[in-house]
Amino acid sequence: MKILSVEGGRPLEGSIRVQGSKNSVLPIMAASLLAGGETVIRNCPDLSDVDVSVRILRHLGCAVRREGGAIAVDPRGMDRSDIPDCLMREMRSSVVFMGAILARTGFARLSYPGGCELGPRPIDLHLSALRELGAEIDETGGRIICRAARLKGGMVRLATPSVGATENAMLAASRAEGETLIFNPAREPEIADLQDFLRKLGTDVSGAGGPVISVRGGGPTGGAEHTVIPDRIVAATWLCAACSAGGRVELTGCIPEHFESVTEAVEALGAEVKRGADSVSVRVKRPLRAIRPVSTAPYPGFPTDAQPPLMAAALRAAGTTVFVENIFENRYGCVEELKRMGADVRVSGRTAIVCGVPSLHGASVRATDLRGGAALAVAALGAEGMSEIHGAAHILRGYERPDEALKLLGANAFLS
Ligand code: UD1
Repeated sequence: MKILSVEGGRPLEGSIRVQGSKNSVLPIMAASLLAGGETVIRNCPDLSDVDVSVRILRHLGCAVRREGGAIAVDPRGMDRSDIPDCLMREMRSSVVFMGAILARTGFARLSYPGGCELGPRPIDLHLSALRELGAEIDETGGRIICRAARLKGGMVRLATPSVGATENAMLAASRAEGETLIFNPAREPEIADLQDFLRKLGTDVSGAGGPVISVRGGGPTGGAEHTVIPDRIVAATWLCAACSAGGRVELTGCIPEHFESVTEAVEALGAEVKRGADSVSVRVKRPLRAIRPVSTAPYPGFPTDAQPPLMAAALRAAGTTVFVENIFENRYGCVEELKRMGADVRVSGRTAIVCGVPSLHGASVRATDLRGGAALAVAALGAEGMSEIHGAAHILRGYERPDEALKLLGANAFLS
């Protein structure tokens, strides 16, 4: 089991370039199945979830080359329509391949994404969107079999603006006959990035970021080149890390408006923030003060993924900070571990109450999910002494070489 060791108690100092977005690159890799030639995806982060996507593409028969942060995918040799159970279990977001495989081959066979990291993660909206486009879906014995000799445009109405369901609907619709309208779609920046990529593949798609997305399907054109947007959740995590440790951190290569709700929260905690066109600098002189309740919501609301790192940053803020989690049931998996470092957090249902403590101490803790693991690292930076974060593989799903990044900012951190 991988361990990330982090020594806390010293301020961070330095500049860091924000990696490409995990939540953008995964659906874009799935979308590369729809191309008529080779696509080159740049600014791909070096993450285990990206490795799993590469394995899925290769399993399907695609030629995949990786050179630094670029991934070239040629789907012309695609000769399979299934994703093996072991790959489905390794990455919950492998479900976003469903719409693309179906659109490309008229058939898709996969299983339910395994585990329950954040509580139930249903895919009913994904399936009803595909059914609306004409897919016949059989769900028996944990298997999902989708068939559609021909997908047809339709009206997809999402009861909840699910990111993954919006992506699956866009992917399938881009090879359906006629127009598809997706009502109440997710408005996250990753949806606009997928729209940009699909346009490069010749799909007539518009409306991302707004209340309705329109997609007019078309046949595969050639390849495309695309640079993935910077990861707003990673940027948000670095802001939280700076709050926890104190010091000065400059984030470069980011899109500040994508994580403005988090920037406002760290400003309220007491950080001094300077926003540039593609950079954000933060200067933190402790002590911090508690902030108004933080309630997670779909974009542009406060992101559920940034909630655990912000909670970790608020552990030593004077006063009481309340968190309300509205997207996933089990986002508070890291709380018991944070308590081992001396945190005072009480959870009741969707609400967590953080009472600021004067200090935290290093501890041996266990990450049980990606953002919860990041929260443990953020807390460790502000704790006296050494912390060992077991289960660090969760962190590597979303953060590129976190030990090296922390060292770059002057922290003592290593991965073993
Ligand atoms: C994506 C992100 C994840 C982020 C989440 C919310 C990726 C790879 N992951 O996950 O990091 O935390 O968006 O911003 O992009 N729901 C249903 N039925 C469905 C689908 C979703 O009820 O068929 C519910 C979920 O239980 C949850 C809410 O909708 O309460 C939002 O989930 P969704 O937006 O689908 O999250 P993901 O796409 O899985």
